[in-house]
Amino acid sequence: MRIVILGSGRGSNAEAILRAEKEGRLGKAEVVAIFSDKPDAKILFLGSEFKKPSRFLDPGPFKTKFDVKSEKFWISKIEAFDPDLVVLAGFMRVLKGPFIQAFPNKIINLHPSLLPSFPGLDGIGQAWRHGVKVTGCTVHYVNEMIDAGEIIAQQAVRIELTDTIDSLEKKIHAAEHSLLPEVIAELSIRYNEG
Ligand code: GAR
Repeated sequence: MRIVILGSGRGSNAEAILRAEKEGRLGKAEVVAIFSDKPDAKILFLGSEFKKPSRFLDPGPFKTKFDVKSEKFWISKIEAFDPDLVVLAGFMRVLKGPFIQAFPNKIINLHPSLLPSFPGLDGIGQAWRHGVKVTGCTVHYVNEMIDAGEIIAQQAVRIELTDTIDSLEKKIHAAEHSLLPEVIAELSIRYNEG
């Protein structure tokens, strides 16, 4: 199963995926490319570290979505790697119909809350401010509604009295780093079973 990773930031989840692949924990999946919409995103450095093609792709004039031209450009660059799965690992841009239809049932997203609670931006802060006692992370298929596609897997994280927003962030990221590679490994096994 060929994977293209899209990310906008730190890339700690992309790193967790690449590490899992290197250590033989990614099932029958292989990362074939990493793309970012931010030229200086740390995620792009993972390419040289893990010997994978990694590139900034111009996202066009908008901040949180693609214009038609950039959408076509991105689709063609991703298609060139013939992916079986496109993983959004901290990709902070909303994908619209043509993008999703170009990779049907092949795009998954990681979100830092237990969806359907706290979709959109700052899932961790939203949960913290709401005062919930359990939050977590979700891996789901991407559809045209924000953070609303079919849920594949979730991991719960307890918020203890001693937690701070920082310690909660750390716990959620740790949960994400184990959940996302596990989901990909599981999907790759199902994929290879046809
Ligand atoms: C992760 O916590 C991920 O759940 C979140 O961005 C972070 C990326 O971290 N994604 C979203 O909020 C998407 N709506 P990373 O760049 O270190 O992997």
